[in-house]
Amino acid sequence: MWPLRAPVDAGRHAPHAAAGSVTLIIPTFNEAGNVAELLRRLGRALPADRPCEVLFVDDSTDDTPAVIEKAAADHPFPVSVLHREVAEGGLGGAVVEGIGRADSDWIVVMDADLQHPPHLVPELVGEGERTGADLVIASRYISGGSRAGLAGSYRVAVSRAATWLTKGLFPRALRGISDPMSGFFAMRRSAVAAGALQPLGYKILLELAVRSRPARVAEVPFVFQERFAGESKSTAREGMRFLAHLASLRSAAAPARMIGFGLIGLTGFVPNLAALWLLTGAGMHYLPAEIVANQAGVLWNFVLIEVLLFRERRRHRHWADRVGRFALLANADLLLRIPLIAVFVAQLGMGVLPATALALVTTFVLRFAATEALVYLPRRTSPADASPADASPAEPGRHTRS
Ligand code: GDD
Ligand code: MN
Repeated sequence: MWPLRAPVDAGRHAPHAAAGSVTLIIPTFNEAGNVAELLRRLGRALPADRPCEVLFVDDSTDDTPAVIEKAAADHPFPVSVLHREVAEGGLGGAVVEGIGRADSDWIVVMDADLQHPPHLVPELVGEGERTGADLVIASRYISGGSRAGLAGSYRVAVSRAATWLTKGLFPRALRGISDPMSGFFAMRRSAVAAGALQPLGYKILLELAVRSRPARVAEVPFVFQERFAGESKSTAREGMRFLAHLASLRSAAAPARMIGFGLIGLTGFVPNLAALWLLTGAGMHYLPAEIVANQAGVLWNFVLIEVLLFRERRRHRHWADRVGRFALLANADLLLRIPLIAVFVAQLGMGVLPATALALVTTFVLRFAATEALVYLPRRTSPADASPADASPAEPGRHTRS
């Protein structure tokens, strides 16, 4: 990467760590006809009192970097180009590389072809600051927005079908996000789980929403414009990559985490039996001792699962809330298993051993799913309805719609 221009005056364009600083990440693939006009409009749109810089991540085979260099010469903000010799991960890979280089508070991602109106950039960041949202999406699908620039009814239909499919596959992660296909958004850098990102193709917002799970999301309507110059780089092959991306996101880590959950569950037998031995040794009747000893196993499992499995998903609930829910689910598992075994034996005519094994597997899978959903998944709260410190569940607010 070469910075095309040093900051003009250090007072105005303070070093990036400054509060409220913004890095605009703009992926380019042969956009020579657009970048000068884009920079011109950005220069007018970005407020002078906010530290901003523009980073193009370029995979072009034309003279786009040279055109950027020329246009950057009289731009009020620092502009740099990271040209990649290998276009790894395509558009999404380019954005992730840009995110890795940014050290600002905010990251704004937008296209280079002016389909994303530059004047909205300050509004996206401003909305995030005002509401405490980690992610602010420019959406075509809330009132005030439109997809006017989506060329032709075929593209409109494809885009809508893809949106529905995606929202159906990720109802929880995409709650409050009306336009998961949008490529125009602002995100707090602190909310990006950079190491977890495995972008594939065009849908970088989807990748961020699903893998980073920002706790608070807001949306701002926008009108998707016509391309200023050149042609769309999206192809049928991009469509196939999108489906592969959906599949990999959907299956991501769930099996691995379930195996971890099961192994940790097995180790819980040790404290469970040890407690049982101690309690009965101290003269307690074995039945109440079983119940108390079970809690030792539950606590052991809880600590390991917290540290090993859901380390990065803990901040959404108070620890006491998590212990309570976890213990409730673990004990419910025990209670549910008995009637389940009875049903398998009496109704399905199974033997006691296979019935017990099946009940164990069934309640294990249920418990894993319930633990993940009820203890570790963030509830999506709407920044419009609640202050950042307020943890009460809320419905998507005025800028958000599912
Ligand atoms: N670095 C890099 N590498 N940039 C790329 C690549 C690539 O392989 N492919 C495309 N780009 C850049 C383009 O130069 C442009 O700035 C931006 O990514 C979007 O590409 P377009 O070719 O204009 O895509 P589009 O208009 O079909 O798709 C846009 O709209 C979709 C919503 O309908 C993008 O914004 C998508 O992200 C968005 O989902
Ligand atoms: Mn475009």
